[in-house]
Amino acid sequence: MAKKTTKIAVKEKTVKAKAAAKEEGSSAKKRPTAPTSKLMPKVTLKTKGSEQPRTNASIDAPHEDMTTNDVAMPPLPAEKPKPAYANAETMAKAQRSISVSEFFAKNRHLLGFDNPRKALLTTVKEAVDNSLDACEEAGILPKVEIWIEQLAEAVYKVVVQDNGPGIVRAQIPNVFGKLLYGSKFHRLRMSRGQQGIGISAAGMYGLLTTGKPVKITSRTGAKANANYYELQIDTRNNKPDIMVEQTVDWEPHHGTRVEIELEARYQQGRQSVDDYLQQTAIANAHVTLVYHAPDGRVETYAASIHHLPVLPKSIRPHPHGVELGVLLKMLADSKARTVRQFLTQEFSRVSPRVAVEILTKANIKPEAQPRNQGGAEAKAIYEAVAKTKLMAPTSDCVVPIGEEKLVSGLQQVVQAQFYAATTRKPAVYRGNPFIIEAALAYGKPESEPQSEGSGNSQTPPSGLGGATNGAAQPTPEQTDEDDEASELAKLIRFANRVPLLYQQSACATYKSVAGMNWRQYGLTQSRGALPTGPLTIVVSMASVWVPFTSESKEAIAGYPEILKEIRLALLECGRKLGSHVRSETRMRIEMKKRGYIEKYIPAIGEALRDILDLPEKQVSKVCVDLKHVLERSRKM
Ligand SMILES: Nc1ncnc2c1ncn2[C@@H]1O[C@H](COP(=O)(O)OP(=O)(O)OP(=O)(O)O)[C@@H](O)[C@H]1O
Ligand SMILES: [Mg+2]
Repeated sequence: MAKKTTKIAVKEKTVKAKAAAKEEGSSAKKRPTAPTSKLMPKVTLKTKGSEQPRTNASIDAPHEDMTTNDVAMPPLPAEKPKPAYANAETMAKAQRSISVSEFFAKNRHLLGFDNPRKALLTTVKEAVDNSLDACEEAGILPKVEIWIEQLAEAVYKVVVQDNGPGIVRAQIPNVFGKLLYGSKFHRLRMSRGQQGIGISAAGMYGLLTTGKPVKITSRTGAKANANYYELQIDTRNNKPDIMVEQTVDWEPHHGTRVEIELEARYQQGRQSVDDYLQQTAIANAHVTLVYHAPDGRVETYAASIHHLPVLPKSIRPHPHGVELGVLLKMLADSKARTVRQFLTQEFSRVSPRVAVEILTKANIKPEAQPRNQGGAEAKAIYEAVAKTKLMAPTSDCVVPIGEEKLVSGLQQVVQAQFYAATTRKPAVYRGNPFIIEAALAYGKPESEPQSEGSGNSQTPPSGLGGATNGAAQPTPEQTDEDDEASELAKLIRFANRVPLLYQQSACATYKSVAGMNWRQYGLTQSRGALPTGPLTIVVSMASVWVPFTSESKEAIAGYPEILKEIRLALLECGRKLGSHVRSETRMRIEMKKRGYIEKYIPAIGEALRDILDLPEKQVSKVCVDLKHVLERSRKM
């Protein structure tokens, strides 16, 4: 027994020695001189051997050259290389400005290019949104054609062509080859785009993933030439590199065609290009979309309204939404001669009387020069503004979809028993006017069997999917594969008529919907989740500036005023839904009761025939009469 123990101890030592030798191996090899290294070659040799796959047998059997004494020799202390710490001077050499394109090339996920499937959607979305903005601004009923063509396993070509006003020649390179360049950022007016990043980012992603430039054809009128460009973005300098520039023959009299090759993946279903286009049709009944899918399908969403929505107006900022830093900059840049003029000219809702009121509170002379108002004065004005009652900003800068159009748009893609919509009055967050709208589609159409309660037994939908729409937006925590999610209500979100397909859980709309008590309307709902049942909920926000949570414009930030308005809109729709669900339940119970009584009418007929000896003809008449009495006496 004792013998055995010793053997094991020796074995353990040997194994440890081998492991130590292995660990030391590489550094030992590098060491040029090893004064005590008579043993080292042995160890090194074994270490080399141990690089071969070792069997248990080789571990168990101590090497004949190696004694436990050999291993006991301490390894040489390695000379640790000093880490190359920097100092202020060496750091200064690396410090330089970062171009915005370099930043977004590295952080493309911030712009919605985090994976090939999403990249395809984002590219189509940015191009289509631009086309719709341009057409509406120019007073043209938009007709946009979209082609997606697969070029290789993971390479697609996206082409988007519109009948818009076109882009003047000199601006084409900047619009498509420079990030943060656009016409919408500096104004306060409702539009789909607002940042000046969208289409140039899509072009940049295409270039980074395929090396191919963006191709643009644009024409501004029948008398103008069509210009053709091939461009790529110089990310280091955030500047366009023009590869090809020429005039071409192009049939349309006006419009723009953008062509981008990119690494992408096409897949139908939720959050797909198809889903985006279908939802775009709901919120934009005046738009015609023709979509050539990569699988050869051609889907046409024809306009159901043949006039444009009211053109939203641009507004000046409202004083209640301006931050101190911005106010300071505005004062410094202002061309106004006096602070009173500055307040009336630069802001909305500030009359000369209100300007004087603000300045009196701030203890500043109305005739003072804006440029001379430093930090302390600006702060005083800022605080005085907050204390002054001002009229809310005008709301003609935001144009809602409208209850009727929301319902008719919803009817096109979701067949349901009941529809309701609400458009709230304009409200303001951080000085920016906005309008919230909500709509609901509930129940399966008449022809389909309605299950008990809230109808949870419906089949899962495909995309928005007609009658089976009812469905299926998984909670953010759930995945596509999660079948349970098919029972949840579907939430459709819009921001300035653009469908939002990603980051649902981060969106103010989701928070408001999930935070409501849908049980009061006869629906089932788990705490903090969407309600279940054949229900589609639409929430739309229209604003001069939609506060997105990131540059990819996927989720609306939860400002308290916005959350409140969404809740109120949902409550209004919910009330209408509640009375529908209640009357539907009443009806179902009544039908059930009637069914029971009806079942006995033939038996009553037969009994009467036997008792009164009635002829067969009269028996059936009695049965019909009894049915009528039943209907009259049990009104629904
Ligand atoms: N199809 C088009 N027709 C006419 N003008 C266009 C078209 N596409 C883009 N533009 C112009 O190019 C500008 C830049 O477009 P881009 O998509 O990069 O930014 P944006 O639409 O202003 O904002 P966002 O980054 O939010 O999309 C737009 O502001 C618009 O003036
Ligand atoms: Mg855009």
